[in-house]
Amino acid sequence: MLVHLDDLLKHAQANGYAVGGYDIVGLEFLEAIVVACERDAAPAILSLAESHFAHYDFDLLMPAVVEAARRASVPMAVHLDHGATAETVTRAIRLGCNAVMVDASHLPFADNARITREVAQLAHDCGVPVEGELGYVPGVEGEDAELHPGEVRMTEPEEAGRFAAETGVDCLAVSIGTVHGRMRGAPQLDFERLARIRDAAGVPLVIHGGTGLADEQYRALVAAGMTKLNYYTALADAAAGSIHARAAARPDAGYTALLAGVRAAIAGEVSRMNGLLGASGRAADARAACRPWREVVHAIAFNFDGTRDQDWQRDALARGVASLSAIPGVRAVEVGTAVWEGARYRHFWNIRFASPAVVKSYAAHPQHVDYADRVFRPAAADRLSTDYRIDQHD
Ligand code: 13P
Repeated sequence: MLVHLDDLLKHAQANGYAVGGYDIVGLEFLEAIVVACERDAAPAILSLAESHFAHYDFDLLMPAVVEAARRASVPMAVHLDHGATAETVTRAIRLGCNAVMVDASHLPFADNARITREVAQLAHDCGVPVEGELGYVPGVEGEDAELHPGEVRMTEPEEAGRFAAETGVDCLAVSIGTVHGRMRGAPQLDFERLARIRDAAGVPLVIHGGTGLADEQYRALVAAGMTKLNYYTALADAAAGSIHARAAARPDAGYTALLAGVRAAIAGEVSRMNGLLGASGRAADARAACRPWREVVHAIAFNFDGTRDQDWQRDALARGVASLSAIPGVRAVEVGTAVWEGARYRHFWNIRFASPAVVKSYAAHPQHVDYADRVFRPAAADRLSTDYRIDQHD
């Protein structure tokens, strides 16, 4: 079931557990994470990190991720991890992410706050909650932390309060000693700082760089106020370990034989983390507490007036598809023609919005206003237009 991330995080916060944000780099990861979470009855977040886009076709993978979240028996959100720009955030929402992160944490406070505020406004206009990051968590997911030796910049509690208030973020990633990627030894974590940030920020807190901590550190992070943990490198290492073991045992193994243990290896690691975060067994309660995510169809049945010829109509519709598709929160634009000659309306716009919030922001968007007022409405006075929320019947 695809649900609102803010409801999921509120439920976790109120009930003393954290939700795993698991990065996906292919179908094996997606299937393994969902299987593990269903087995554990654990809510979870399916994450796609912009830093991993070179490893897969984002446009092609996203429909599978959204479908997996929808049909899962446990509540899930689909999240853009480490989005770098407003363009990526808009693209991610178009493809079905119902939560996004904007990461400008490498910049000074004022620039980070400005960029995060702008992206948060854009995402909120689409009904989509936003994660920002304050403080700096160095390293790269899936690689040795030593290869990317940036300095950890710890989050200051007072700044966290200001950042949350100025930007309007719905959750905040903070730095208290973790690094992205594979580490040597367990890092020193400042739990007391995390608790002070929790009290100052007033929004759920996210820890990045989840791989490589001691079991008791995960539990202590939850106790000190972490509500979401991002976790990837350990999943990738479990997958790679399975492939290496099979290749060593059978050097002539074929492709499917090499991959045969990958899903079970990833699922095992996801289950271990769901247990440590206290997320296992929470799905039914979380599901009852979370609003299901609902998309909207903006439907317009219409006739062109008699003065527009076929070429003009074709050109006007093509321009509409191109222009309206680019508006933030629009997931798809289709235009169709009646199957029956005698239909009351000859043409039909089928425009899919990410959420009910888009009804308002789309109506006011300059690209929509321009197209509707200058091209479409003067040529199609005879029309019927309504917004429908898509219901779930399961
Ligand atoms: P690890 O790769 O260290 O688990 O971190 C994952 C992460 O923070 C993704 O945003």
